[in-house]
Amino acid sequence: MKQLIVELGERSYPIMIGAGVLNQAAELLSKHLPGKQVMVVSNPNVAEQYGYLKPLLSQLVGKEVSYHLFPDGEEYKTQQQIDQLYAQLLQNKHSRNTSLIALGGGVVGDMTGYASACYQRGVNFIQVPTTLLSQVDSSVGGKTGINHPLGKNMIGAFKQPGLVLIDTQVLHSLPARELSAGLAEVVKYGLIYDAEFFAWLEQQAEALMAMDDQALAYAIERCCAIKAEVVAQDETEQGIRAWLNLGHTFGHAIEASMGYGTWLHGEAVAAGTVMALDLSVRLGMLPSEALERTKLLLQRMKLPIAGPAELSAEQYLPKMAVDKKNVDGNIRLVLLEQLGRACLRSAVDNELLLQVIRDNTGA
Ligand code: NAD
Ligand code: GLY
Repeated sequence: MKQLIVELGERSYPIMIGAGVLNQAAELLSKHLPGKQVMVVSNPNVAEQYGYLKPLLSQLVGKEVSYHLFPDGEEYKTQQQIDQLYAQLLQNKHSRNTSLIALGGGVVGDMTGYASACYQRGVNFIQVPTTLLSQVDSSVGGKTGINHPLGKNMIGAFKQPGLVLIDTQVLHSLPARELSAGLAEVVKYGLIYDAEFFAWLEQQAEALMAMDDQALAYAIERCCAIKAEVVAQDETEQGIRAWLNLGHTFGHAIEASMGYGTWLHGEAVAAGTVMALDLSVRLGMLPSEALERTKLLLQRMKLPIAGPAELSAEQYLPKMAVDKKNVDGNIRLVLLEQLGRACLRSAVDNELLLQVIRDNTGA
């Protein structure tokens, strides 16, 4: 088992990564559950169809354990679902020293984290991510929240977990499309922070797609290490943390415009990353070779390298105008200065933006 630490002073916490770590959950969780009450939050797919709930519940010996299932899907990442979780917590008389454990992908993790930030003004929270995307990104760093019809992830809170427990074995039940979606965020880390890691991904793309255990374990460890480093420097995204949003401003516009869940988050990020890199090239910041290498890598990972044909460039702008990185209502974008180094840019000419989107739309 590999252990990393997210260094945040008194709120520092471990990320434990390994194959089969959920079999040791009793021991690993014991000092992270302060009270008797525990609510495990998941969805029917992860909990029942793939059967990950019962083994976890059976490890929580000596606790008063209950569970809550959100419906599966990005379209249910809503306040209404959070209210139903609050109702169950209140009906079961969960006190302030209760713990919420998120068992699932990024949707379950973001929602459970948000509920844990708000329930009785904040209760203990543990992340047990089960998708590649949530293992490399969403479970680490404390961004939690829900969608609003007018904008993706626009309602939320920073709430760090007390522990992130990553069992790489659960990835074997992940559908191929979800694996690819997770790889979009993996590629992001190489692009923004670590050119060597990007080159390693170019060598290992097929191994990752075939779910080679060693390759996946290394990718997860490297991504978590980068994320831990970035979050430790800039927990509340005043600067460098925004780099983790490469491709996301375009991507969030795709997700919201297409209807949440139609394009997977990782798919929208992949297309958005191509747009962000193309813009970087056109602004003279990035050699076009970096864009071509990235497109090739994303294609090998079965990810889209263009936005949906049914969405016009003009439809992106109102969505991009409500992005969380914006300042005083002006769009700010994460661009690339070189492979392995991102930057933040505002005041990008709207016509250029529209042209880049148009040129990277459709099959
Ligand atoms: P998801 O949570 O919808 O999971 C994808 C699908 O995989 C679901 O159908 C789920 O039930 C299923 N699944 C989960 N684990 C499985 C397993 N082991 N085997 C088989 N199926 C499994 O999607 P996601 O890609 O994990 O997360 C996307 C969400 O994460 C988005 O809402 C995005 O906004 C958010 N996100 C948040 C952050 C953050 O920093 N908080 C970062 C990136 C993304
Ligand atoms: N996924 C972006 C962040 O955590 O900041």
